Amino acid sequence: MVVAAEAEAARAGLAVLEAGGNAMDAGVCVGFTLAVTLPRAGNLGGGGFLLYHDAANGQVHALDYREVAPRAAYRDLFLDESGRADPEKSRFSPLAVGVPGTVDGLLEAHRRFGTLPLAELLEPAIRLAEGGFRVGPELAASLAQAHRTQRLSPAARLVYFRPDGTPLEAGDWLRQGDLAASLRRIAADGRDGFYTGPTAEAIVETLGRDGGLLTIDDLRRYTPVWREPVQGTYREHTVYSMPPPSSGGVHLVQMLQVLEAFPLADWGPNSQRAVHHMAEAMKRAYADRSRHLGDPDFHPVPVAKLLSEAYTGRVQARIDPEHPTPSERIEPGELRQPGESPETTHFSIVDGQGNALSNTYTLNFSYGSGILAEGTGILLNNEMDDFSAQPGVPNAYGLIGGEANAVEPGKRMLSSMTPTLVLKDGTVRLVTGSPGGSRIITTVLQVVVNVLDHGMNAAEAVTSPRFHHQWLPDVLEVERGFPADTVRLLREAGYRVESSGTLGGAQTVLMENGSPTGAADPRRPGSTVAGN
Ligand code: DON
Repeated sequence: MVVAAEAEAARAGLAVLEAGGNAMDAGVCVGFTLAVTLPRAGNLGGGGFLLYHDAANGQVHALDYREVAPRAAYRDLFLDESGRADPEKSRFSPLAVGVPGTVDGLLEAHRRFGTLPLAELLEPAIRLAEGGFRVGPELAASLAQAHRTQRLSPAARLVYFRPDGTPLEAGDWLRQGDLAASLRRIAADGRDGFYTGPTAEAIVETLGRDGGLLTIDDLRRYTPVWREPVQGTYREHTVYSMPPPSSGGVHLVQMLQVLEAFPLADWGPNSQRAVHHMAEAMKRAYADRSRHLGDPDFHPVPVAKLLSEAYTGRVQARIDPEHPTPSERIEPGELRQPGESPETTHFSIVDGQGNALSNTYTLNFSYGSGILAEGTGILLNNEMDDFSAQPGVPNAYGLIGGEANAVEPGKRMLSSMTPTLVLKDGTVRLVTGSPGGSRIITTVLQVVVNVLDHGMNAAEAVTSPRFHHQWLPDVLEVERGFPADTVRLLREAGYRVESSGTLGGAQTVLMENGSPTGAADPRRPGSTVAGN
């Protein structure tokens, strides 16, 4: 079964499973195909993280293919002449672009766990890029949005807009010949087909023309890293998730450990008591994130301490059972709400042998930096905005950071991506993850709690209205459809509650009695469950 945010890619992944490929083969295929069919988030020019359960020996592996800062990057790169952080530079200029990791990540994942030839897995992506496909309502809507915000470069507009400059509409045909050629170079030459040669040269030239720092040498040096997954137990299940340089796994496990002391099931889903205790756990986790989390190759991240029993106990003891602790009393700070429209995408795959893949990857914003490497059809990320441009200055998701996440050459910017696997007695039970920037971690938390505490099935766990607190700003966001009685009680207890847009998009597989049930998150229309 494949659950992904776009139907052509989900079906291509299912066809790989049906042809005898394993979950990793299918994932590599879905990863490349989404770069064609879901260009706002699927990508070659971005990066991500994946978790893989290898049923042959029961081990879970984590691959970090996050972008890195170019070697010429430096701490104050994103400050203007007056010393203030300039979001235009970190989000939409050539300086916004981190060295892409997706291609090397997917190839490395294939090298280690794949069983079918790479060319076969790239075939659907090449065919859909070359022959084209009909634009559906979701792609049309995201292109209309990109047109309104005027964030796509002229070269990107040539691909996604009509000759008269209006965006492609539903029913139009999208052909990406340059992208097909770029994919063919990967099929022929592997990583060299992207990190050296015409694709690499086009990336460097496009960025260099407008002051970019990224070099051929940066591309050549890029390497994905296998890391030890973060692991914890929750209600007799083992939770595996992504370690730093994502903050997702550490904080997911940290919050679950804190919550294990409270009878969430008795209180009920989205009851005032359950939401209060979860929000208090969220606030402490995001406060820790701002100080302690960053690229572990540059800054020691105290993972063991954050997940220790002693620390968990201290956090539990600090939660007032009735009232919210004001965020200033946890840590001071002035923040504004995020302003940009974000996009990332997650897919979850299980195969008939018990292998499972949980993959989240991104360009950061919808269509990333909007810059397309000329002649390649490849959109480039704006992941550099995930660094802390200046201590205390929020990124696009309102997240702040400091030293641990300062810009340094060759360093990975901190992420919130949380691809997650939950196992029971060595067998995969739940495969999930989400887009949503800072809301990713709390989305994944709620899917896990909905299943393990509240006994929900996949559809219930994914569609249930969500909430989010990230410590700063001191606001509890709730989706439309959140119970009004709970909101009233939370306000009476002292919370500032605000209505939000949709939170996350958790493409999920839940195993029930040995069979997979999939839930495509309706918050991302176009999401599809393929197979059974
Ligand atoms: O790595 C991160 O945490 C962000 N760049 C993810 C961005 C994101 O999820 C946008 N999605 N909707």
